[in-house]
Amino acid sequence: MGTRFPYGLPSGWFQVARLVDIEPGAVKPLRYFGRDLVLFREMSGAVRLLDAHCPHLGAHLGHGGRVDGDEIVCPFHAWRFDGSGRCTKIPYSEKVPRQAAIAPWVTVERCGLVFAWHDRVGRPPMWTLPEIPEYGSDEWTPFEPRTWSVRTCNQEMAENAVDLAHFLYLHGTASMPTTSTSVDGPHMHVHSKTHMTTPAGVVEGSIEVDSYGFGYVTTRFRGIVETLLLSSVTAIDEDHVDVNFHFSVKKIGGGSITRGVGKAFVAEVTRQLEQDIPIWENKVFLPSPVLCRGDGPIGPFRRWARQFYPEMTNDPVDLDAAAE
Ligand code: FES
Ligand SMILES: [Fe+2]
Repeated sequence: MGTRFPYGLPSGWFQVARLVDIEPGAVKPLRYFGRDLVLFREMSGAVRLLDAHCPHLGAHLGHGGRVDGDEIVCPFHAWRFDGSGRCTKIPYSEKVPRQAAIAPWVTVERCGLVFAWHDRVGRPPMWTLPEIPEYGSDEWTPFEPRTWSVRTCNQEMAENAVDLAHFLYLHGTASMPTTSTSVDGPHMHVHSKTHMTTPAGVVEGSIEVDSYGFGYVTTRFRGIVETLLLSSVTAIDEDHVDVNFHFSVKKIGGGSITRGVGKAFVAEVTRQLEQDIPIWENKVFLPSPVLCRGDGPIGPFRRWARQFYPEMTNDPVDLDAAAE
């Protein structure tokens, strides 16, 4: 089956692991960005990500490779590689061939998570990821993870935040949100006013979404309680993504009240996501959709999104007319 999305995989930072899942000395095979990768953690604590296959005879370092000090040792003939992918030693040969190297990936850690830089044209990282002040704060609950695998792509999922009409008709929210959008390079800010249905009735709330590309998005909900969602959607290949959500709630009253509110909030976001999944998994991407007034800022969103496919030039389609 061919791919359903015509632009391929976007550039940006994307979550590839949680630090708690990769202890010092651990080795993990990964499959992201349509590539086989190996993640390992040096005994000194640094996390490293390399292409998976050994340049010698092609073994996958993530299946049987082991960490020794700050190096990873291939399971097949024990060639050793450092975190930059350079072969440092071949135990049965005095000479290491100059081409004996594996492509390294740039990673950064935020909020106990590891993000990898993926670039379709091989550029070094084009932007940095902001710290999240709620993470580690005494006033906020520890980040709580949820994950899904979905048959869709980054852009289709991200468009959900600016697709205003679906909130009412798919998710059954109390009203259609109203939004304002601003863009600064890879950062897009969407401010929405909305009505949220709660056990105490309908309350007015606001939602601030800050996207730094498709793979690092904070959503701050304010209404009865403040809640934070950090989300990163990582492409496995052109048609499948891993969705990583981390939730945190601003502490209120006793621990049990916060826990109760947190649970209700996670349940509501999960309910909405699980309503979106069958739409995403079965829809097609229309480069020239028929839009109408009231649809929300889909045109500005798609223009912002275009930068993550850097070699692509102007979009021949003008979505301005019906965008807002
Ligand atoms: S295949 Fe890795 S050392 Fe031979
Ligand atoms: Fe949705």
